Amino acid sequence: EKGGYDHFMLKEIFEQPKTILDCLRGRLNAEKGTIQVSGIENYLEEISRANRIIIIACGTSWHAGLVAEYIIEETCRIPVEVEYASEFRYRNPIVHNGDMIIAISQSGETADTIVAIEKAKEQGAIIMGIVNVVGSSISRISQTGAYTHSGPEIGVASTKAFTGQLAALMLVAFKIARHRQTITEERFKELCSELALVPGKVEKILEQNESIKKIAESLKDSSDALFLGRGYNFPIALEGALKLKEISYIHAEGYPAAEMKHGPIALVDENLPVIFVATKDVYHEKIVSNMQEIKARKGQVIAVINEGDLVTPAIADSVITIPEADEIIAPILNVIPLQLLSYHIGIARGCNVDMPRNLAKSVTVE
Ligand code: M6R
Repeated sequence: EKGGYDHFMLKEIFEQPKTILDCLRGRLNAEKGTIQVSGIENYLEEISRANRIIIIACGTSWHAGLVAEYIIEETCRIPVEVEYASEFRYRNPIVHNGDMIIAISQSGETADTIVAIEKAKEQGAIIMGIVNVVGSSISRISQTGAYTHSGPEIGVASTKAFTGQLAALMLVAFKIARHRQTITEERFKELCSELALVPGKVEKILEQNESIKKIAESLKDSSDALFLGRGYNFPIALEGALKLKEISYIHAEGYPAAEMKHGPIALVDENLPVIFVATKDVYHEKIVSNMQEIKARKGQVIAVINEGDLVTPAIADSVITIPEADEIIAPILNVIPLQLLSYHIGIARGCNVDMPRNLAKSVTVE
């Protein structure tokens, strides 16, 4: 049932070209430049008129929410807040009639997320579910939404479910943006074509598995790690750190790269690996200078970069080179080397990667 792989986690990482395609299939038509998401068509008007979107989730799904915040604000020009379900449900949150709530959940059964959206629904919000498990509680509470179609995820660590969430959220964001005319037809078509290229680019990244394994070997005895990214890649740094914690029990933190000067840089010495998500985007030069600052303090720099980047390899100790993509689409690619890195570090440390200690696949109690 592991399809020839040693672990479900590795199988699920390698399934991503297919699972992302399954999410896009029948919805994205790159040639024609159209997006159809049947689950949201009936609410398109309401969604497009929303004054505010609140995204509610936990864990990795919350990280997908953070990526979506950046994408929705940029393309749809609707203000977005991202909330931890556990915090939202116990506050006295301000929800207005017609506010749009996006609940993101792989299982659709996370207790805090369920209660949080029930509360928001009572206050007149429209609930959109971005859910993997068909027929799950969150999908039933939601009035509108899109399944991620990632298939069953057995590994406790979310991998293919996360990229499925990103793909579904991108489809929804681009669809709303075009409906609101906050992006041009030309830009919309460009994003459609870029999205269609993702499964093929993921294949290419997976070909780097052996070289990522070698980097993992060099990191396996670390006690801590720092993950840094900016913009669309800041949530990917958070996700890289969470994955490493869960799978290898190495203490890891993710930060927006510019925040390192406000505290975390105090940790940097020759024993601290710092993993940069540094693919090409408007922040690239800035993140390269952050990298130089880490090197100046003898930190060990590992960088996820794009083909054709000739500057970074001269600064970093190791690089993982992946295909270039539009900066809005890039997070879905950039997380993949981090998933593989965690997997191989976990294996090198003898950890049970499919069932890390103390964790449950679905947190159905608060
Ligand atoms: O099923 P959900 O997406 O609602 O689950 C949310 C979190 O419990 C989940 O993402 C958790 O953080 C994973 N272990 C991450 O790998």
